[in-house]
Amino acid sequence: MKILDGKLVSSFILKKITGEVCQLSKKPKLTVIMVGEDPASLVYVRNKKRACEQVGILWEQISLDAKTTTTENLIKEIQRLNSDKQVNGILVQVPLPKHIYLPEVIKAINPYKDVDGFHAYNLGKTVLSMQFEDFAPCTPKGIIRLLEHYDIDVRGMDATVIGHSNIVGKPVSAMLLNRGATVTTCHIDTKDLKNHTNNADLIVVAVGKAGLLTADMVKKEVIVIDVGMNRINGNLIGDCDFEKISKKASYITPVPGGVGPMTVACLMENTLIAYKKQLNQ
Ligand code: GUN
Repeated sequence: MKILDGKLVSSFILKKITGEVCQLSKKPKLTVIMVGEDPASLVYVRNKKRACEQVGILWEQISLDAKTTTTENLIKEIQRLNSDKQVNGILVQVPLPKHIYLPEVIKAINPYKDVDGFHAYNLGKTVLSMQFEDFAPCTPKGIIRLLEHYDIDVRGMDATVIGHSNIVGKPVSAMLLNRGATVTTCHIDTKDLKNHTNNADLIVVAVGKAGLLTADMVKKEVIVIDVGMNRINGNLIGDCDFEKISKKASYITPVPGGVGPMTVACLMENTLIAYKKQLNQ
């Protein structure tokens, strides 16, 4: 069994970006909007800030009140950032409070500043073909990068994705399909999950439920990508039973230190891509 070391691979990506940013006289800038104080989001946002500081990307955080911020206020703030030439990337941290309508918020972001790749324009491009994946969402992009680093070619593989979110499940399914995998996407209404994991060569699990994927559900030599981040008794664990599955798997991502750091590194990369796109506009 081999560990897919996201911490290590992300450090190579960050190093490359640091080198590129270092050459720029005017630095790229990322603006992150947080509405409320979701504890997990606070941790993710702190990690994004740290990465910006590490690579030399300018960081701005706009923290809005969960109770008083409306969909309209938030869209106004985004429009202001859309027209601010100093801002290259805009990221609205999710989840948002329930009274804010996320689709309208995402739609308001200028697609050229959409470093999360959540806008329909960028998500559509990601689905169309590998060539157009420039603003692919950060977690799916990080997963693909990790597989590439370890020379894992998914062409012809049976891949099962568990979770159908717009952030991870759907785009990673599309990106695996773009690379020639035969993809099954499972979700909350899937009748018999094990039926879809048993023969899979590659499993991506992105649900947020500790213990969801167990060793009896996977075949020998499976490759497991665990996107889950669950805090159990103060410890961070993924969605799969790492200890038992790692005895069967050929490759597996740890939590923490797998997909998480890859997501952050790909956000830095997307911010640099946004900066370059805007130079050419
Ligand atoms: N919440 C959890 N992951 C993400 C992400 O990649 N981007 C944003 N904006 N919010 C998130």
